[in-house]
Amino acid sequence: MYTEKVMDHFEHPRNVGEIENPSGMGTVGNPKCGDIMRIYLDIDENQVIRDVKFKTFGCGAAVATSSMATELVKGKTVQEAMAVTNKAVMEALDGLPPVKVHCSLLAEEAIHAALWDYAQKNGITIEGLEKPKDNIEEEEEEENY
Ligand code: FES
Repeated sequence: MYTEKVMDHFEHPRNVGEIENPSGMGTVGNPKCGDIMRIYLDIDENQVIRDVKFKTFGCGAAVATSSMATELVKGKTVQEAMAVTNKAVMEALDGLPPVKVHCSLLAEEAIHAALWDYAQKNGITIEGLEKPKDNIEEEEEEENY
């Protein structure tokens, strides 16, 4: 059912962890399955993603797609990272079963949420980047008021 690459990234996920004082951080969740993904970005002064880490509380496909997504954005500029769509992540993993496509969407959304956070903090615009719908941090903050 899963490709070798998916199994490899699930069993040996790359870039697991967190970054202290990240340049950008994004947390997204899928309300249907309840899975949560958080991405931390460390971005240098040339807007190059120098390091990236993730934490995923979710299914195997979510772990594999976050792992692959972090590998794909590492070393790229923030603008180049926009090309790391869920489709690109799935292709890099040699495909996902149709019922697991939404898991790869979570990876794309988490990266976008982290890039959005970075863009907000630095007052820059990343072409094609839209405000994330469901940044969990923001929702939690709103609930506190
Ligand atoms: Fe929800 Fe995979 S089942 S992210």
